[in-house]
Amino acid sequence: MSEGAKKKEEKPRKFQAIRGTRDLLPPDTALWNHVEQTAREVFVPYGYGEIRPPIFEVTELFARGVGGDTDIVSKEMFTFSPDPLSRLEALRTLILSTREYWGGTDFPQALNEPLQEFVDVLKSASSRAQIPETAENVASQAQLASIANRLNQLITVEDSPDIDEVNDLCEKVELSVESFQFQDAASLRPEATASVCRAYIEHNMQQLPQPVKLYYMGPMFRRERPQKGRYRQFYQIGAEILGGSDAPAIDAELIEMLMAFFDKCGLQGTELSINSIGHASDNCRRGYVAKLKAELEKVKDRLGADSQRRMEKNPLRVLDSKLEHEQAIIEKLPRIADHLCDDCKTHYAALKRELELRGVIYRENWRLVRGLDYYMRTTFEITAQGLGSQNAVCGGGRYDGLVELLGGPPAKGIGFAIGEDRLILSLQESGKGAAPQGRDVYIAWMGERAYATAVRAAKDLRNAGFRVELPPTELKFGKALERASKLGSCFALILGDNEVTDGQWTLKTLADGSQQKLSEAALLEYLRNQKAGL
Ligand code: HAM
Repeated sequence: MSEGAKKKEEKPRKFQAIRGTRDLLPPDTALWNHVEQTAREVFVPYGYGEIRPPIFEVTELFARGVGGDTDIVSKEMFTFSPDPLSRLEALRTLILSTREYWGGTDFPQALNEPLQEFVDVLKSASSRAQIPETAENVASQAQLASIANRLNQLITVEDSPDIDEVNDLCEKVELSVESFQFQDAASLRPEATASVCRAYIEHNMQQLPQPVKLYYMGPMFRRERPQKGRYRQFYQIGAEILGGSDAPAIDAELIEMLMAFFDKCGLQGTELSINSIGHASDNCRRGYVAKLKAELEKVKDRLGADSQRRMEKNPLRVLDSKLEHEQAIIEKLPRIADHLCDDCKTHYAALKRELELRGVIYRENWRLVRGLDYYMRTTFEITAQGLGSQNAVCGGGRYDGLVELLGGPPAKGIGFAIGEDRLILSLQESGKGAAPQGRDVYIAWMGERAYATAVRAAKDLRNAGFRVELPPTELKFGKALERASKLGSCFALILGDNEVTDGQWTLKTLADGSQQKLSEAALLEYLRNQKAGL
């Protein structure tokens, strides 16, 4: 191998963030913080408190909450199963298949090694708390270990093992393997509504004054095909109202708050679309879906493969199609507004009145059905400019009954989640990006004595709220000023022997090069006034 190739081989691997994930860096993070701060400022006066649910939960929570057949749950979740669960499957298959073909002593031989391995995996899993420590599990684990021992002895020590005993042991292995209780599989959260409902139930929040209003912000995870505005780790800012009534005023106030937030962020070109998808009953959505399906059957041959598949599983999702050639077909399909029951119709009409009362501008979109199973009645989405095809910055809707579906009391619910990544992208596209973070004061110090003063001055100025850069080693005067301006500093505080002896510090304004001498107290005063004037 050549020297060059050898060197190349020795070079440590350079790591990159995993596909669909990314680092958020300064100065952009200043805008992220600003947006999050704005959300708090807008949500708190409406009576919301913050909830921070865990980032992973039992997979079944999402399957039941979001819906097992949705894209999110069926294709996009990051799921991890406890280690022994997969081994257990392998062992089960092995027992079954070897028993089927067993004609002699081969069976225990073949089983012996995987069984010993399984006992080891169990041991290590229980030491890592991957197996619930129930009395049954402890007993099964001990029994399995002793059977494995005996089986091993029979096979390796005895010449012709008693086949009946071997058979009996194998049956016992099967029984104890079956009775094992494993930790549930867990998934990284693809959204947070199901978690908030779980928390509402777990902490008996129905006993608090209703409704309970909660907001959250944080990362969500979906294994989608990454593109602009679509990531595998993305961030949402969301809010949920749980319990109490389903008065349309609640829906309207939530939407009013959302639009106030976008306004305060300075988001451009927002468009709010609303719809009502009724409730799951024969005289409402179920009846409509049956009609829709019947109509879709008639045009099936003209639909693409995706729509044909959706037609079978969830016909409403066909309305989501963006395919050019399907648009004219979809426009002619029956519309849900004409098939809502009286209660849902009244609710929807009242929602529109309430929005108008609050000066919220909306557009009706009868095709807005959303991709999660829990919605009923009100659904809404907000788009913004500068985002290309992934232009939905927020989605939400009503989900009465979800809490009950997750084992809680009957409770109304409505909420939304904002895609923070997309919100930030749109703000940046319209020129609202954060400016690089400069410094207020750069301290150019020279000499040992001045250094001690510089360290103290830096501490005092930072305490007073100024952004201060103190170079760790002495720099030549010219070099120090060059660094100061590269960092975007407003002032250079020049500290040398003379300044320290006289107690008069030199402050240079970098924008115009002017200089002045100030006492320590006068300098602080001057900087404070300058900052207040900015
Ligand atoms: P969602 O429509 O699935 O609803 O997501 C809400 C928003 O999250 C989307 O409008 C989009 O801005 C953003 N988003 C979704 N997936 C990605 C991704 N892969 N990359 C970047 N941004 C993304 C929900 O999650 C519901 N939990 C909303 C809700 C709350 N409904 C009631 N309460």
